[in-house]
Amino acid sequence: MARPKIALIGAGQIGGTLAHLAAIKELGDVVLFDIAEGTPQGKALDIAESGPSEGFDATLKGTNSYADIAGADVCIVTAGVPRKPGMSRDDLLGINLKVMKSVGEGIRDHAPNAFVICITNPLDAMVWALREFSGLPHEKVCGMAGVLDSARFRHFLAVEFGVSMRDVTAFVLGGHGDTMVPLARYSTVAGIPLPDLVSMGWTTQDKLDAIVQRTRDGGAEIVGLLKTGSAFYAPATSAIEMAEAYLKDQKRVLPCAAYVDGALGLKGMYVGVPTVIGAGGIEKVIDIKLTKDEQAMFDHSVNAVKGLVEACKGIDPSLA
Ligand code: APR
Repeated sequence: MARPKIALIGAGQIGGTLAHLAAIKELGDVVLFDIAEGTPQGKALDIAESGPSEGFDATLKGTNSYADIAGADVCIVTAGVPRKPGMSRDDLLGINLKVMKSVGEGIRDHAPNAFVICITNPLDAMVWALREFSGLPHEKVCGMAGVLDSARFRHFLAVEFGVSMRDVTAFVLGGHGDTMVPLARYSTVAGIPLPDLVSMGWTTQDKLDAIVQRTRDGGAEIVGLLKTGSAFYAPATSAIEMAEAYLKDQKRVLPCAAYVDGALGLKGMYVGVPTVIGAGGIEKVIDIKLTKDEQAMFDHSVNAVKGLVEACKGIDPSLA
């Protein structure tokens, strides 16, 4: 059987890391696409030359032509511009919306059967626009945010508790941004919910609140340190986890920006929710019940995403 084909649209910091990870994990053959001439070709060659030492079997091709993504099984989209210090993800809207139009049309014309994972920010609005421009089925287009946000939450919690990250689970809902909703009662250490750990004296509510805020600001913290771009190792790892769930039909339960029509009281919009990812793409959106306080935070987040989608429609009337 031929290897799966993985097309990476955008060969910048995240795109290059995605290519490296996909090759090392032997998820399939990789095509790196970018409008910058030489960048995807150079990165593809560099990673291919790591193959003999690493011992992976995968081909890597860099290209500036959409024709080369033909028949891709998975497309991961990072095309666009990242944040600089002082910018919010929302400040990227106008520029990256135009990019989503050309990328969506490229995928529509050359890889209409792919499972598409968008990473470009502002995530929830960009994945919606990408789906509109590409016309692919909603369950085949999603966005990577929740896996990264919950990975950040898990990392901070594991450090606080002095335990393995493997034994920490975290649950994050809502848009990827300042309004994301980390759910403490569904986040656990070895199955023990965080509020119980506060009662047991393992940590304090103040420390937990600080970790929640640090998770919300996780992207900005890295932008502030790097100064010239945004995070790329953890975002790439998170998207690869989603791609692997699809390619291997793992039925992973992962939070991601998915199209929700009915669950959680929402009608036809993209936002971060718990999903099941398998060979059908987003096979299920898990319809969890929220407490009053959680619902208020989620509503706030949903409204922020709706505002960005309206802004997209204002910029590009073809989306209205
Ligand atoms: N088509 C294809 N590629 C494009 C296009 C386009 N229309 N416009 C820009 N690009 C390419 C750039 O040439 C660049 O190589 O997208 C790449 C983006 O790479 P980086 O600037 O290194 O950004 P990166 O850190 O990879 O982040 C990409 O993901 O997390 C989000 O906010 C982040 O929106 C940003 C995206």
